[in-house]
Amino acid sequence: MGNFHDEIPSFLISWIQKQEVFWVATSPLSADGHVNVSTKGLKGTFHIIDSKRVWYEDLTGSGVETISHLRENGRITVLFNAFEGPPRIARLFGRGFVHEFGTPEYNELLPPDLRKPGSRAVIIIDVEKVGTSCGYGVPFFEFKGHRDTYYNVASRFEQADLAAQQEDTIKSADIDSFPQKGLRHYFLSHNSSSIDGLVGLTVAHETPRACNIIVKEKSQIGRLSTSLAKRLGMDGSNDLSKILDLRFLAGTIMGLVLATLYSRMFTVLKC
Ligand SMILES: Cc1cc2nc3c(=O)[nH]c(=O)nc-3n(C[C@H](O)[C@H](O)[C@H](O)COP(=O)(O)O)c2cc1C
Repeated sequence: MGNFHDEIPSFLISWIQKQEVFWVATSPLSADGHVNVSTKGLKGTFHIIDSKRVWYEDLTGSGVETISHLRENGRITVLFNAFEGPPRIARLFGRGFVHEFGTPEYNELLPPDLRKPGSRAVIIIDVEKVGTSCGYGVPFFEFKGHRDTYYNVASRFEQADLAAQQEDTIKSADIDSFPQKGLRHYFLSHNSSSIDGLVGLTVAHETPRACNIIVKEKSQIGRLSTSLAKRLGMDGSNDLSKILDLRFLAGTIMGLVLATLYSRMFTVLKC
């Protein structure tokens, strides 16, 4: 299968940063356990620390397979596909670590102003091997935009938690104490164990903090408003690729200036 590398090669870094979606595959150790593949993404959730370490902000979903499998055995593979431009498939094989919402490790990477609505954990992955292959069979898809549905729904869940906190109705960390349409209740009712009964979220529901964002549901498929997109890091302003492009531009301009100065100096000396 294609080429293998011991770390993420530099040519892959800016390409990975441009991807709008990725997939994670994990599995329990049990021979009859359920192997899982999950779609992950939404703009600005995947981060590259260096060529051996990456992390992503894990948004709450109806299941908790990835977190449970990582707690049990740590094995994970992240897959990216090129749907635009030159064909490519890249896999990051590694060991993943879970840091739930509200833990010191989570707070360090995602302080309140950076956390996205519905965010439940940080998954840090130590990359052990990288595989790249041709991707000739992956079809072209034109990216039209992210749906705003996820953040709308998650914000409403968090708003329910916030209202209960403000009304001081939460008296304990028991499921019955949290509003039924809130995220903290959802953590306990849907995200506390995998389909094979492995442990999922354990402490996220204890965190008395919610994103105070309410997003209007404008359409099923649509782009977010400019200010909200910026707030959620979905406007592309944080792209490493953009920074690299700017550096390339600055280097080119600097080169042209130096070449002009040098040729002028040469002309003056010749006279
Ligand atoms: C673009 C995108 C769309 C998603 N749509 C759904 C969805 O419709 N329903 C859902 O339960 N999870 C959805 N998810 C969540 C994940 O695919 C995944 O099922 C969830 O995070 C649970 O992950 P886990 O089982 O690996 O822990 C979506 C995620 C992304 C990135």
